[in-house]
This record gives sequence, structure tokens and C-alpha cells, in this order.
Amino acid sequence: MAHYEVHHANCFEWLREQQTPLSIHAVCTDPPFGIVEFLPHEMVKLRNGRGGVWRIPPTIGGSQRAPLPRFTTLNQQEREHVRVYFREFGEALMPALIPGAHVFLAGTPMLQHLVQSGMAEAGYEVRGAIMRLYRGFRGGDRPKLAEQEFANVCVTPRGAYEPWMLFRKPIAEKTVAQNLRKWGTGALRRLSVDQPLPDIIQSGKTPIIEEAVSDHPTLKPQHLLRILTRSLLPLGKGQVLDPFCGSGSTLAACQAVGYDAIGIEVDDDYFASLHTNIRQLSGLYPKYRGETLEMLSDGVPVANGKERRQGVLL
Ligand SMILES: C[S@@+](CC[C@H](N)C(=O)[O-])C[C@H]1O[C@@H](n2cnc3c(N)ncnc32)[C@H](O)[C@@H]1O
Repeated sequence: MAHYEVHHANCFEWLREQQTPLSIHAVCTDPPFGIVEFLPHEMVKLRNGRGGVWRIPPTIGGSQRAPLPRFTTLNQQEREHVRVYFREFGEALMPALIPGAHVFLAGTPMLQHLVQSGMAEAGYEVRGAIMRLYRGFRGGDRPKLAEQEFANVCVTPRGAYEPWMLFRKPIAEKTVAQNLRKWGTGALRRLSVDQPLPDIIQSGKTPIIEEAVSDHPTLKPQHLLRILTRSLLPLGKGQVLDPFCGSGSTLAACQAVGYDAIGIEVDDDYFASLHTNIRQLSGLYPKYRGETLEMLSDGVPVANGKERRQGVLL
């Protein structure tokens, strides 16, 4: 069984004070996109269900939607803060990373350029992004308070993807092959010998069986996380960090794939649920280790092309 540990801390402080240099082989994380949404005053608004950056998307077919952060409320100063935040995050993280370590950062299309600028300023190579295709609730709206007047207009395109931006700490050896031999990093793991990791992954909404484990507002699906975390260790060995671990879904994916992992979470309530969530989420789909892209229409992964539902809560 792979090992994991979790820390109740602000990851910036943890990285600056407690990290072991050259100890992390990869990072997979879903940070606060707009920085403000997980600050204590916004969390109070989220938990009260009113105000702030969190919005309840319109009810469709009578079903209540989960709150989503709306980043169009960010002003110019807050946008600039996103770039500085990711530069400082990248700088704090850099010493802990092994040369050639890859970093996946989930993002949002409107703020992606700021995150990439900040990470590039911190010394990372920008290695594109994996597009998670899924049917979200972002964009597509008509102009506010003039919906009838401009019935044929949408202010932004209807969102159907989430970028998982990819970065790499520069390799320390002359070639990727030499870096792989010396450090075990510098490249990504293929899905199989015949199939490289693609940069588009058809994903789904987080399945109900996973949402039953955690009510975290931005819980990511195991299907996606197992594919991404698995790809991060090219030789299948090393330690993955999630510095904004929320429900613990990335750590659960690492457990399922068989990778050691470290998680950091600042919020008291989310931290308190981590061990239970990790045990339950990693116990779902026990045969699925992120080696295939297939999933069922409800987002449940398909283990090896022949398996059907594997959702067993242990
Ligand atoms: C977008 S959520 C991650 C959700 C996660 N992907 C999941 O599936 O559950 C970001 C998390 O980072 C936490 N967070 C925000 N700032 C942090 C910081 N400085 N250090 C550690 N955790 C932080 C928030 O409390 C929140 O749970």
C-alpha cells in the first residue's frame, strides 16, 4: 500500500519552513483559481449561501446546482494578485522539487494566462495544458438584465473545458534520458506503450457516488485525477504533492494508482475529513488506476475496456 501524509497548514508556510529539499517528484493540485474564493470571509459567504464570489448557477429542470466561484467579479488589482500569487507559489515550491518534476495546476480559461505568467517568472517551463472536457455551467449567458432584448447574444462562449496547466522544473542533466536515469523525472508516463498521454481528456461531472463521500464545493473526479497523477511519475516511482488538497481527492487517486503522496490543507473542516475521504474515494473503482481514458456517461471510469461499474464503497 502506498504511503500518504497530510498536514494542516498554509502551504506557503509549509513549503518555506518544513519541506525537504529535492523530495517531491511531481505536483497535482487544484488551487484557488481566483485566490479570494477560499479566504475566510468568502468561506463564510459560501457556507451561508449568500454573497461574495460564490454563485448558485440557475436551477435547471428543478434541480439545485452546487455553488461555483464567478471570477468576472475580480477587479484589475485582484487579477494582478493572481499572477503574483502563482509566482510566489512557484518560488516557494521550487526547492522541494526534483529537477524535471512536472506540476499540474487546474485553472480557469479567464485566468490561465496569469497563472502561466506567474509560474514562468518563478522559473518553470510552461508545457501546455491538458484540457478536461466536460459539461460545466460556465459562460453562455445573455447580457444581464437585458436577456430579452439580446436574446441572440451570449457574453462569453459556453464553457466546456477546464485547463490543467502543465509546468516542469528545468531538468538538471543534458538530456531527458539522462535526467530520467539520475532523478526519475523529466517526462510523463504513457497510458500504455502504444498510447501517450493525450492533451484532451473527455471527462464528466464528478459522479454522485464520489459526491456522497465529500461535500467539498470543487471535488474533482477520480477518473481524471487517476489519469493525471499516474502520468506524473514517468517511471512509476516517487512522491506526489497536493498543496491545496481540499477533500483529499488527489491523495485518494495516488493511493489507487499506488503512488506515495503528501497533502496540505488550510481549512479546519476540510482537513478534519481528509483521512475518511481518502479511504473512501481510493476504495472506489478498485481496478481503475488511470491507465485508460474510458468512462461511463455518469463519469464513472471503466477499468480496462471490459469492466463495467466498479463503484464499491469500502
Ligand atoms: C479548489 S480547492 C481543491 C479541491 C480539490 N481538488 C478536491 O477535489 O477536493 C482548494 C483548496 O485549497 C485550500 N487552500 C486555500 N488556500 C490554501 C493554502 N494557502 N494552503 C493550503 N490550502 C489552501 C482550500 O481550503 C480548498 O480546500
